[in-house]
Amino acid sequence: MFTVNKALLWAKNYLKKCGLENTALEAEVLLAFCIKLDRVALYRQNERFLSPEEEENFRRMIKRRGQREPVAYLTGHKEFMSLDFLVNPAVLIPRPETELLVEKALEIINAKVFKVGQTQKDKILIVDVGTGSGAIAVSIAKHIKNLSGVYIYATEISPAALDVARLNAKRHGVAGNITFWPGDLLEPLKNQGCEGQISLITANLPYIPTLEIDRLEPDVRLYEPRLALDGGKDGLDFYRRLISQGGEFLRPDGYLLMEIDPAVINQISWLLIAAGWKFNVFFDLAGKERLIAAVQEV
Ligand SMILES: C[S@@+](CC[C@H](N)C(=O)[O-])C[C@H]1O[C@@H](n2cnc3c(N)ncnc32)[C@H](O)[C@@H]1O
Repeated sequence: MFTVNKALLWAKNYLKKCGLENTALEAEVLLAFCIKLDRVALYRQNERFLSPEEEENFRRMIKRRGQREPVAYLTGHKEFMSLDFLVNPAVLIPRPETELLVEKALEIINAKVFKVGQTQKDKILIVDVGTGSGAIAVSIAKHIKNLSGVYIYATEISPAALDVARLNAKRHGVAGNITFWPGDLLEPLKNQGCEGQISLITANLPYIPTLEIDRLEPDVRLYEPRLALDGGKDGLDFYRRLISQGGEFLRPDGYLLMEIDPAVINQISWLLIAAGWKFNVFFDLAGKERLIAAVQEV
């Protein structure tokens, strides 16, 4: 029978043999999940015996991880912006670099760049395009200084992903602040009185060139939804369309915030310049061009 210590040792060795790197952390996260303890408690209870069901469940999970199934899909949870998000294989697992986009969005909104007044025209309307798990939209709603007068819309092409986003909004108590729209990019908002009204569009859309998907880590290419990864031949299919659609929906002082693949910074820059946008580029913690904040030239 496994004690906590022995289970961790076995799991670390097993995962190492499978070629994985963060074996200690992953073994701890999965064991804590299987025996319903937090990770710190594992150290306090390191001689605790696992029940036969717990041991069987843990062995099964470690074997699935050995086949590269992501830890977040195994546990069904991923932390993003200090919030616990539900995830399943219908949604991209939120990435730490996307927190940069949320922080910039909050900076723009919290700085009261936009006036909130009594009229429809002065309300703050934010749209998260391709919301996936809802990580961006929900985090903005949770962390914004003042939600009154702020309306958040989130669009998504995958109905299964929208279900997850709705659950996350409910889980974090912001379901009443976010309206979810099934459909393609900004199309669902056409004829909804949104044209020229949006203060901020956030977008982390699929941006991997189709032929590069097969070269991605197995954790990503075998398990994460292709719909969330495939950005077409050069990875820019969605950004090309969003850049041309966005101007029609944004207020003249509205921002388009886009997470990008650093490899396409030049191509994206030319697309924006050609469509008449001014923009700033922001770098992620690895020093790579990861975020663009664009406004329309007046
Ligand atoms: C890279 S994932 C990002 C998900 C989420 N925004 C995040 O940052 O974690 C891109 C998302 O866009 C969605 N998507 C793909 N094509 C779309 C389209 N034409 N219109 C709206 N959403 C789309 C995918 O289903 C996926 O959920």
